[in-house]
Amino acid sequence: MMTRNSWKNRTRNWVASLVLALALPAAWANPAGVKLDHAPIDPSNTASLQRGAQHFMNYCLTCHGAQLARFDLLLRLGLTEDQVKKNLILTDAKMADYMTVVLNPKDAKNWFGVPPPDLSVEARVRGADWLYSYLRGFYRDDHRDSGWNNRVFHGVAMPNVLWELQGEQVLQPAEGGKPGELHGEKLVLASPGKLSPKEYDQFVADLVNYLVFIAEPARETRVHIGYGVMIFLAIAFVITRALKKEYWKDVH
Ligand code: HEC
Repeated sequence: MMTRNSWKNRTRNWVASLVLALALPAAWANPAGVKLDHAPIDPSNTASLQRGAQHFMNYCLTCHGAQLARFDLLLRLGLTEDQVKKNLILTDAKMADYMTVVLNPKDAKNWFGVPPPDLSVEARVRGADWLYSYLRGFYRDDHRDSGWNNRVFHGVAMPNVLWELQGEQVLQPAEGGKPGELHGEKLVLASPGKLSPKEYDQFVADLVNYLVFIAEPARETRVHIGYGVMIFLAIAFVITRALKKEYWKDVH
């Protein structure tokens, strides 16, 4: 027979599993529990998306592919086929080709120890805030082979490929904290790059905006359909109410 206590235990186990299931993805995405900065992105800002696409082709596609996205997807950003071919396709790829990585995956594995992952759906996996914090979170670390570490992704194998733009940051431990400790630490710009911190933040925001776009290019369309559905429901409500009034008029 099921006693009261065993029911209680079962409920408790069930609640604990639920909490764990909900908390795990968050914990995995940000294992160090580092506070993420809010990504100031606007998916409806086409100019920002165009800049982001350009940054991605110039700085990321050498190592990372976006194999679920085709170059003709860029036409949705208000660009002409000519503009895409001239400015954004830096290899001999065609419009209908997928954005495959330039680097040979075997070489990449040899150089970095880990192959750079495909970034097609990265924004859905990690979230925009994580990406924004990650791309602004690199700092100099002599203990790493690459010479770089990251506040959000500790021990990352990717070097700071944007260091010429951002400059070089160092990690200043929190007061009373030990060096290398990841709580309460501060990133300090030790030597400036070509961009001011504000310009660099905008550069990264555009890039993240673009990564969110390729991860879910239908988002904007869905938002529009959503508005259409709401308007339809509102009109249907008014008509139905008027009909109800009409039908019940003679009953009383
Ligand atoms: C020189 C090669 C190289 C370039 C260029 C490069 N990356 Fe990386 N990237 C890597 C490697 C290697 C990893 C894997 C790191 C690891 O797992 O430790 C990585 C990892 C990442 C990750 C984390 C993936 C994850 O979820 O585990 C993101 C996000 C990322 N890169 C974004 C970018 C963006 C955006 C650019 C362009 C600004 C870029 N990378 C340019 C080599 C590169």
